[in-house]
Amino acid sequence: MSQFFDDTEAVRVEGIRAALGAETIDALDTAFRAYLKGKSSRAGELKQRIKHELDRAAAGRALDEATKALEAAFAERRAQLETAVQAASLVRDRVDLTLPGRDYRRGHLHPVTRIWRELEDVFVGLGYKVAEGPEVELDWYNFEALNFPPGHPARAMQDTLYVRLGEPEQVLLRTHTSPVQVRVMEAQQPPIYIVAPGRVFRRDTLDARHSPVFHQIEGLAVDEGITLGDLLGTIEAFVHALFGPSIASRFLPSFFPFTEPSVEFAMTCVFCEGAGCGVCSKTGWVELGGAGMVDPNVFAAVGIDAERYTGFAFGFGIDRLVQLLYGVDHVKNLWDGDVRFLRQF
Ligand code: DAH
Repeated sequence: MSQFFDDTEAVRVEGIRAALGAETIDALDTAFRAYLKGKSSRAGELKQRIKHELDRAAAGRALDEATKALEAAFAERRAQLETAVQAASLVRDRVDLTLPGRDYRRGHLHPVTRIWRELEDVFVGLGYKVAEGPEVELDWYNFEALNFPPGHPARAMQDTLYVRLGEPEQVLLRTHTSPVQVRVMEAQQPPIYIVAPGRVFRRDTLDARHSPVFHQIEGLAVDEGITLGDLLGTIEAFVHALFGPSIASRFLPSFFPFTEPSVEFAMTCVFCEGAGCGVCSKTGWVELGGAGMVDPNVFAAVGIDAERYTGFAFGFGIDRLVQLLYGVDHVKNLWDGDVRFLRQF
């Protein structure tokens, strides 16, 4: 037996080992080139040696056999590796159709907007309509028709920014929602039942409970035979509707130029239900706003017959109410626009 047969056997054994030992398809291709593909592969070299052999037929058969065995080994290993690659990609790219969908985070209304709308709903439920007025207002509506004559000291409590437009000091950022009362009464005769929520402005320094921009809601009822009792009952009804029957209201005498008599009203502290706590300074009550019977001077300014009609009005801060409801210690938190804060509500 010539060396050729030993070499062929060696190529067969080593080639099969290389094929079965290949860990990747790339490694298998490399081994395939080394052992089987082309003239310079191990099998290719043997093929060129056949012509020098004495028994060419036997040499040819031996090489053919070895080549077939190698091809089978490479084919088998290729199939194994391809199956493994596919299995790995199935695991890697698996889509679990039973997983719940990815929730996207929806926004929600700002707490002040929400309470604003809840207040509207309560009063609409009591038969009121929602009215609006401009944020840039005339002195007439903000002060004069509301019985704040020029130079009246009550104006000083509501200092604001004046806008350079028209007559000097006649156009301003409204300091309260009360001018909407005047606009509505100028535009229509009684019966009038309106609420007017909106943004108001004052030259106040920012602190925990004051902001130069805030929100109020105004109420106005004008009809025949309206009394102070109707005012008290309406406030009580609104407080119950919003906070439940355990929350009461109370009234203290006060002064506003556009109401006579005037009151300030408070409600039971929602945190301690009247027992006294830090939020209500141990009084059991929290201040809400001002109210009173529409002053006859206001009726005169808008052309409503004060002999025939009477009315009540009230107004209070929405931001203040939100602070109370949610225990927001500094009003600035409401307007910083920090989602981490707002997300809580
Ligand atoms: N406009 C007043 C303020 O901002 C609040 C107020 C008091 C409104 C009495 C009223 C009222 O309608 O009758 O201080």
